[in-house]
Amino acid sequence: MSRLVVVGSQWGDEGKGKVTDFLGQKADVVVRSQGGNNAGHTILIGNEKFALQTIPSGIFNPHIKNVLANGMVINPKAALTELKNLEARGITNYHLYISNRAHVIMPYHMDLDGAYEQFKGSNKIGTTKKGIGPCYADKANRIGIRMGDLVNPDCLKEALENTLPIKNMELKMLGLKTYTVEEIFAEYVNYGKELKKYVCDTSLLLQEEIDANSNILFEGAQGSMLCLDHGTYPYVTSSSPTAASVPVNSGIAPKYIDHCVGICKAYTTRVGEGPFPTELNNEMGNYIRERGHEYGTVTKRPRRVGYLDLVVVNYAKRISGIDSLALMLFDVLTGVKELKICVGYKLDGKEINTIPATLKEYSMCEPIYITMPVWNEDITKCRDYESLPAECKNYIETIEKYTNIPVDMISVGAERNETIIRRDVFKK
Ligand code: GDP
Ligand code: IMO
Ligand code: MG
Repeated sequence: MSRLVVVGSQWGDEGKGKVTDFLGQKADVVVRSQGGNNAGHTILIGNEKFALQTIPSGIFNPHIKNVLANGMVINPKAALTELKNLEARGITNYHLYISNRAHVIMPYHMDLDGAYEQFKGSNKIGTTKKGIGPCYADKANRIGIRMGDLVNPDCLKEALENTLPIKNMELKMLGLKTYTVEEIFAEYVNYGKELKKYVCDTSLLLQEEIDANSNILFEGAQGSMLCLDHGTYPYVTSSSPTAASVPVNSGIAPKYIDHCVGICKAYTTRVGEGPFPTELNNEMGNYIRERGHEYGTVTKRPRRVGYLDLVVVNYAKRISGIDSLALMLFDVLTGVKELKICVGYKLDGKEINTIPATLKEYSMCEPIYITMPVWNEDITKCRDYESLPAECKNYIETIEKYTNIPVDMISVGAERNETIIRRDVFKK
């Protein structure tokens, strides 16, 4: 048995969905513990492509219990639509459990997300506009509405009566539409009715699974550099996507986490605004973007693309305790004309190996690169390490050398089977 955390080691979209689906074949339970439908996890099963946002990537396996834990923010309408779309595609035999302590994304959260972005103008974060930040703000402000309230009409009404006068003041101040208790209640009470069968104390459920020696996979969302505390603040999301946040966000004790896999793209991408030292605004960046289909799953925005930045990966290693790396989208680098890896930054003439706290300093960091030999071979058919070209092995071993983390998985295509396993990190 093991409890394994999958964590994004960059700015999100590293391929966590694929890894969760792949490792999930051995899981009894798959848990999403933070974020909401700002996530977009793509899974390719045969020719079928699925893009999950709120629902965990274990949903395709009828033996897996899928948990949305307390640290999540859930848009009930979006979650129900996602479930209905899955059902329409034949995914009907699933097990879903939603924490009664998870917070509910309300329509005014989305309105406020959009309005704050508009007011920030050129300083906008580039959020997904799903209401994530305003929902977490209400949680911290103790005026949030939780799933336990949503599924109980009396509690929902009371929560709305307490919260809406405050939210309406804020909405009015920003020149936005206000809401009545009645109009939100009339709509949301129905979502509550539909979701009630899934809502429970998921911390209790997870403890029972731990006691039963189940294999539990914690599916990360977002990436370490988007962490509210440790990321490139304020260009971050409003929760912590680190392994350290898993216990508090799922209601298990920290001692139960056995292993952390850092998901690492073979290059770097970022959606939204904020500093990005290895960004490539050139032909190389365009080549990688097109080969990797680097367009957002949620917002369809073109992703910003850059060389692999090992300062970022080492930082993620430190804050999450990454034990293994899964190197993703490795096939995308085939044919790239010039290949580099960033192994440090230069700031004010000094070499540094960490992420400075202020935006001012971080935007002044210049990457220190090593140049890597390139390759032109198609590697999508490789299924073992030995069959990779020497230049690919060199790339992988350079990552291992500079991070001191074993690259235990290598992904050479989006499909489940397009994977090279060097060490089994999730034992049954
Ligand atoms: P996540 O948010 O971390 O789950 O990642 P996304 O799903 O947002 O983005 C990763 C994208 O890369 C998806 O379109 C995947 O289907 C795709 N993908 C994952 N692994 C590989 C790979 O090894 N090679 C290629 N070419 N695509 C991959
Ligand atoms: P997955 O799980 C990439 C980014 C947004 C924006 C910032 C804040 O697919 O890796 P938010 O809507 O969360 O307030 O936006 O965070 N962001 C992501 N970028 N992948 C994600 O999730 C992301 N979730 C949020 O683009 O820059
Ligand atoms: Mg994504």
